[in-house]
Amino acid sequence: MKLVIGCDHGALELKEEIKKFLAELAVSPLDANDPIEVNDIGTYTADSVDYPDIAEKLCKEINEGRAERGILLCGTGIGISIAANKINGIRAALCTDVFSAKMSREHNDANVICMGGRVTGPGPAVEIIRAYLSSAFAGGRHARRVGKIMDLENK
Ligand code: RB5
Repeated sequence: MKLVIGCDHGALELKEEIKKFLAELAVSPLDANDPIEVNDIGTYTADSVDYPDIAEKLCKEINEGRAERGILLCGTGIGISIAANKINGIRAALCTDVFSAKMSREHNDANVICMGGRVTGPGPAVEIIRAYLSSAFAGGRHARRVGKIMDLENK
């Protein structure tokens, strides 16, 4: 599974914790034959950056097929999720708990998960990521609803 991860200066430490967890996880929880690959698109230093730029760069990786899913982090997760959801093709879910992360896949087919480095500690954050990667889109009535979300891009 090809993942892309990005953060602003508000979530540098959380990004490193998540990368460490993903390296240990090594394979997709849904398919032991699917190795996890992580592309870190930055930011890499504590210098202040603008989270919409990070969201744009990460979402391009998904929309151009170089990554299947994305992890976006800022101080609260709010700004970066708002920015990501402005980009066609992106369904970004801001999650602060495991249940929401699971539902974001099963019901919303979220291709990006967002969290806040000043909100969610590393322990809960890695469990949220585990739930996100362990859950598959349920389809059925949810496919109709997700289709309607995507239709909003053309209205
Ligand atoms: C940056 O200080 C902060 O505004 C950003 O990380 C995020 O929390 C925005 O929603």
